[in-house]
Amino acid sequence: MINIYSDDEIKKIKKAGHINKLTHEYLASIAKPGVSTKYIDDEAGRFIESMGGKAACKGFEGYPGNICVSVNDEIVHGIGSEDHILRDGDIVTFDIVVELDGMMADSATTVPVGSISKKKEHLLYHTEKSLYVGLKELKAGVPLGNLSARIQQYAEKHGLGVVRELGGHGIGYEMHEDPWVPNFGKYGSGITLKKGMVIAVEPMLTAGKRNVCMLDDDWTIVTEDGSDSAHFEHTVAITEDGYEILTGE
Ligand code: MF3
Ligand code: CO
Repeated sequence: MINIYSDDEIKKIKKAGHINKLTHEYLASIAKPGVSTKYIDDEAGRFIESMGGKAACKGFEGYPGNICVSVNDEIVHGIGSEDHILRDGDIVTFDIVVELDGMMADSATTVPVGSISKKKEHLLYHTEKSLYVGLKELKAGVPLGNLSARIQQYAEKHGLGVVRELGGHGIGYEMHEDPWVPNFGKYGSGITLKKGMVIAVEPMLTAGKRNVCMLDDDWTIVTEDGSDSAHFEHTVAITEDGYEILTGE
């Protein structure tokens, strides 16, 4: 079942989204060479709580971190660790879900640590762009598959792999709700969007092949070929004539 949210509920999700956005800005400022991913996860938890929110990933299906911190070939669900020290030239993804007043907002960004290669710059630039290119398709009355098709088309045009096993989702009362929002598919396919639907759109692209595998911790998902991966995500509400980003300011 796909929930339809009222204007008041959407305002609440946007308040959670505001904390989410500020957390991303703060974490980007501390993601420096020499810092551990555990330190980043701890700081994220402290920051979100100081703003009155809750780090919703903590305890979700037993997840141990406050947020997900995924480095280089790690696509999603990386767990902050004392032993994992960020190095110059790494890329690091923060995937954050903030709960406030019973509502959830989900957002991810991938940022450079120090100075990164041209290839990594290409990956980051076009993964972020693919998110916005996809979002442009959204409005009430349109099939969700149009967004999926546009993201896939844009990514492949720029030589990037589209991860198939993971995708976006409805969100609001729960972190993961219907519908599933794949980053590949056909124009005209999928459910018809309605005003008040709230979805998290999150392309996960790779600089190599699109295949993935799971690490022994049973959480971290990495590229099979060891290539780098980037991930950009916004929570958005569908409106009559477009969409509103709820995690952008
Ligand atoms: N934020 C992730 C998503 O985009 C979910 C994190 S799963 C968790 O769907 F277990 F880490 F919380
Ligand atoms: Co998500």
